[in-house]
Amino acid sequence: QSLQPFNTFGVAVKAHWYAEASTDAEVREALAAAAALGAPLLVMGGGSNLLLTGDLDALVLRMVSRGRRLLAEEGGQVLVEAEAGEPWHPFVLWTLEQGLAGLENLSLIPGTVGAAPVQNIGAYGVELKDVLHSLLAFDRQSGELREFRVDECEFAYRHSRFKRESGRWLILRVRFALSRQAVLHLDYGPLRQRLQQQGIDVPTPLAVSQAVCAIRAEKLPDPQVLGNAGSFFKNPLVDEALAGQLRERWPGLVGYPAGDGQVKLAAGWLIEQAGWKGYRDGDAGVHALQALVLVNYGGATGRQLLALAQRIQADIRTRFGVDLEIEPVVC
Ligand code: EPU
Repeated sequence: QSLQPFNTFGVAVKAHWYAEASTDAEVREALAAAAALGAPLLVMGGGSNLLLTGDLDALVLRMVSRGRRLLAEEGGQVLVEAEAGEPWHPFVLWTLEQGLAGLENLSLIPGTVGAAPVQNIGAYGVELKDVLHSLLAFDRQSGELREFRVDECEFAYRHSRFKRESGRWLILRVRFALSRQAVLHLDYGPLRQRLQQQGIDVPTPLAVSQAVCAIRAEKLPDPQVLGNAGSFFKNPLVDEALAGQLRERWPGLVGYPAGDGQVKLAAGWLIEQAGWKGYRDGDAGVHALQALVLVNYGGATGRQLLALAQRIQADIRTRFGVDLEIEPVVC
């Protein structure tokens, strides 16, 4: 089975075995099949945070479960549940149509509901951990179902317990704590500015969603048009001493205080300063409008994209003494 349609980089690799699961029972069947074959099982959502570097001698299981529902409502707080295979952005739009606020800043992120908690997706001042209530996961070690409250998920910047214990938990459905009363997050400067330019003083969640979509469309390539997996590196945390030294040499350095004497640097700025923005080697490249995004112009292999990423990492280490960590799962 070719995995090219199922990864947003559009990398052409094959899986030895392939299955789709739309119910919990089909998940269990796939696990049993993998065990019978003696093959590892790799779970995929939207394939939007994945770099595939070769054919997989594994059973690839794509989560295609569908369903979304309002579970409970009290005092304007609404509990919403969605199945893991639900595509993320249509789910966000559906919550907005229901008159619910909370997910608007996370509009237009590729991928699925079930994959969102694994890397704690985040954008424009909101992270999934801010709106997640709980989730249900299948424990591949014990074969049992387990519910995780938000405080049990070990969420951190682009990180979670499900990423740390990768291969153990298979997320089946996710619950969100949303609200009838909008509490908007407009800390991200360009978002606030765009709404002001539009003359919107008191934005609705839908207006915020539309502004986020417009900002994303300007900078981030549409995976349907140009293969990519969003930000390819995490924004690195460095201590204040190093940030201070760097700022002396590069006064334009972009960084934000991250607590505990640390500064989160904008990796896109470092990569752009190093001259990589718009760089292209064959079909592997660095996006011309956002240096943090690697792109596949068509025929790049996962290995070529990884080689480019490693050249960038080495260069950033040499120039700035900063280590960039790859964000997507590489396999
Ligand atoms: N910058 C540059 N050059 C570039 C790109 C960025 O100088 O080529 C500078 C910008 O001028 C800006 C700063 O870097 O001052 C930050 O850029 P931006 O606001 O575009 O965000 P980012 O830090 O590059 C992060 C997330 C994105 C998320 C945006 C908005 C990570 C790894 N990435 O990117 O998430 O959409 O903030 O909140 O944290 C993703 O994870 O796939 C993703 C797209």
